[in-house]
Amino acid sequence: MDNKCWYETNIEFDKNFTIDKLPKINEGEWYDKEGIWKQPLGEVFSEEWNTHLKDLGFSMWPWVLMFYRRPHYYAQRAHVDLQDTVCGINWVIGGSDSHMIWYKKTGVTQERDALTSVAFTPYLSWPVNELEEIERHTLSRTKITLVRVDIPHAIEVRSEDRWGISVRPKGKTFRTWEDTIDYFRSKNLLIER
Ligand SMILES: [Fe+2]
Repeated sequence: MDNKCWYETNIEFDKNFTIDKLPKINEGEWYDKEGIWKQPLGEVFSEEWNTHLKDLGFSMWPWVLMFYRRPHYYAQRAHVDLQDTVCGINWVIGGSDSHMIWYKKTGVTQERDALTSVAFTPYLSWPVNELEEIERHTLSRTKITLVRVDIPHAIEVRSEDRWGISVRPKGKTFRTWEDTIDYFRSKNLLIER
């Protein structure tokens, strides 16, 4: 049983990806989308990078999630992503000292109904005061990080706003955290900690 919720990886960045590919923030749209955009992978990343992921054996969800969080954003709820994958392949732009935080359920955690985000991704969520924090981490800007999304997680932002970029591998390997880690390890993509 691996109780670590994140690992940095050796996955290379898309050299052609620049901040120009990020959605433009205008107040109305930001508000409507609650800071969450879902964009086709092929529109955001180069053919080369998409091929690189395929060569590593990843078949990916066809879209990338991009989260924008303003300075001092603090989630009072944590959520579980209800997708066919337990992990995200993530990095951040900005967000100095921001934290991704993972929790476990406690005796007072109540069962909740599934909800759907503005990006049409289903999730479950709980107030953080019903949960127990197990780990927190400032995601790297210079390394791509494998993060767990099938247990409750949330973000806290400090004084610098934060973009979180997340691509999601699919397939049966990525339906458990243990299998996911084994796979990354077998491909020498995992940086042990
Ligand atoms: Fe999530």
